[in-house]
Amino acid sequence: MIRLDRVTYTYPGQPAPALADFSVTIAPGEFVLVVGPSGAGKSTFLRSLNGLAPHFYGGRWAGRAEVFGRDPVAAAPRGMADLVGLVFQDPEAQFVVDTVEDELAFAMENFALPQATMRKRVEEVLDQMNIAHLRNRRISTLSGGEKQRVAIASVLALQPELLVLDEPTSQLDPQAAEEVLIALRHLNEDLGLTVVLSEHRLERVVQYADRVFYLPAPGVPPVLDAPRAVAAQLPLVPPLIELGRRLDWRPLPLTIKEGRSASQRISESASQRISESASQRISESASQRIGGCGGGARSTLRVRWAAGAAGGEPGGAAG
Ligand SMILES: Nc1ncnc2c1ncn2[C@@H]1O[C@H](COP(=O)(O)OP(=O)(O)OP(=O)(O)O)[C@@H](O)[C@H]1O
Ligand SMILES: [Mg+2]
Repeated sequence: MIRLDRVTYTYPGQPAPALADFSVTIAPGEFVLVVGPSGAGKSTFLRSLNGLAPHFYGGRWAGRAEVFGRDPVAAAPRGMADLVGLVFQDPEAQFVVDTVEDELAFAMENFALPQATMRKRVEEVLDQMNIAHLRNRRISTLSGGEKQRVAIASVLALQPELLVLDEPTSQLDPQAAEEVLIALRHLNEDLGLTVVLSEHRLERVVQYADRVFYLPAPGVPPVLDAPRAVAAQLPLVPPLIELGRRLDWRPLPLTIKEGRSASQRISESASQRISESASQRISESASQRIGGCGGGARSTLRVRWAAGAAGGEPGGAAG
């Protein structure tokens, strides 16, 4: 369980708090997407989950925090490292050594884990992040997406309960971003790892999230709810969601795939309505013409119509 209870945190030298009277509860095993405008406090919230705020940044902290049974303010980042893995936008910022395998072992060496355990865990995380083929590579030769997967693998090696990622795909092309997100979804679904991830491009991540945490601005209460419920009230959304909101599509489509099937449903029901109203008009005009026919033809048609049990007598009371 992650619980922040009425936290107010102000960076040093800042006139106003970045998190003001801020509360949230996230259940174990959830995949939560954190969104909001620049400066709303997304990174600050993420930094509070392992104690970087206030320990690394300084400043003033009030309120209670509990992350999987530990208080990050009391434990500090070092005391949270085996519980919370933090990954940043720029993976370069967290690499310490040159090659992939050494990087994966680095954090474990700091925890003085036995060699056999370290070897086993390196194999596990290489496999989990689908980077076994990169094990002997120099990190400087990797692509952005590969670097980000190595960065995630290196924090996974400590077997955290919670993975916190601050815009991990914002520097990646869509293909590399999708690979990272799919790997995260597997960790979340298969291993039950709790994932809290911030991202500006809602449409990129929303399909993987159980809930969306919207931070409107410092001091304004945040909203944590189902993706569709939050998407319905965000001021700025991707064009597809905007279109769905304007046309009042239900359920509100969040992805291109959902948008496509919504538009298909709507066009099918529209063409059904058009054909229903056309056939109604045709039958009305046919009735009128029949109603205007001479006696013999009219009575023949009346008999046929009644025999077909088409409901009601054409031509009204005429005849
Ligand atoms: N290291 C810092 N020192 C002082 N103030 C900071 C620091 N980091 C963030 N702030 C301030 O705290 C507030 C929240 O910033 P934060 O970085 O958490 O926002 P954000 O939602 O992550 O924004 P972005 O989308 O641009 O990453 C802002 O007013 C910001 O200027
Ligand atoms: Mg940020």
